[in-house]
Amino acid sequence: MTIATPDFIAGLPKAELHLHIEGTLTRDLKRKLAARNKIDLGEKTFTALEVSGTAASGSNRAMDQQQLGIAQYKMFLDLYYEGLKVLHTEEDFRDLIFAYLESCKADNILYSEIMFDPQAHTDRGVSMGVVMEGLIQGRKDAAEQLGVESNLIMCINRDRSADSAMQMIDDAQPWRDHIAGLGLDSVEDGHPPVKFKDHYARAKSEGYRLTAHCDVDMVDAVKHLWQCIDVLGVERVDHGINTIEDERLIAAMKEREMCFTTCPTWRTGDPKPRRVDRIRIMHELGLKVTINTDDPGYFASGLMNHMLGPVVTEGQFTKDELAQFMINAFESAWLPKETRERYVGMVRGYVAS
Ligand code: HPA
Ligand code: ZN
Repeated sequence: MTIATPDFIAGLPKAELHLHIEGTLTRDLKRKLAARNKIDLGEKTFTALEVSGTAASGSNRAMDQQQLGIAQYKMFLDLYYEGLKVLHTEEDFRDLIFAYLESCKADNILYSEIMFDPQAHTDRGVSMGVVMEGLIQGRKDAAEQLGVESNLIMCINRDRSADSAMQMIDDAQPWRDHIAGLGLDSVEDGHPPVKFKDHYARAKSEGYRLTAHCDVDMVDAVKHLWQCIDVLGVERVDHGINTIEDERLIAAMKEREMCFTTCPTWRTGDPKPRRVDRIRIMHELGLKVTINTDDPGYFASGLMNHMLGPVVTEGQFTKDELAQFMINAFESAWLPKETRERYVGMVRGYVAS
């Protein structure tokens, strides 16, 4: 079987299901928006995420590695929340999402489900209306001018209060028709899925589709995965790689045909794409894997086609396997059945030709 080549990757019709719009802020775009809004950001915000390279050692090595991973993840999120302070006006949100969708066009991503973090904006005085109207305009422009289709996933920042999350769902009511689903992101440590049981029940009753992050190698990762299916009733899991540590969980996920939006990203200083070995195991176990860029403005892995080359090499993924990841994404997309089938047909047609 042939390993997917760069040409094959470039031409493959693609979908992305795990992308934080605030995580697409590149240094250049941040500079532009900071200048436009006359904001003086510390130089720290313009730095790409650096890996410390400190290797954990000592007797309790496994625990040290986990704590190191969590510390690096929190460091990334600090930068991410610092960076999004450049966003103030509808035009900023419009330009942000349009720029990302332009990159989709270049990478032949035909469809993207895009997460956004309202609380991170409303808490600093930017209204839900500004966020929504800007994102809606950018999506509309991209659909009309570029032919790139997208949907929005509104995320609860899990490290904020349960009341704040409920307020966010209230605030979003006027734009309900423009939001496909509810997600759960930000710092997982100490904030289990069960904290948002009522929010997910409400969202489900209001017709939102449901997903949640189970970030990689967090404390209680497997417990959180069980909560996502048993308590929140999610239809997809963002990351979810620790599923492979529990036989019963693997079976439960397969029974539900759960889609996993994995992200084999890497940071400046990482020797190679992360998690690829475990993504291959998931795929070989028959779990429904998709491949996504998460926060391409911050990770050295960057945008989809840039990321896929090294990921394919590392995982030795064949053309058929890579195409299957995209078929999985289109099949699990929150789109009407006929649209999903049309996209899947395009992938199959591409592979056959
Ligand atoms: N994990 C959790 N929350 C996030 C992430 C992530 O990778 N990126 C942006 N918000
Ligand atoms: Zn994410």
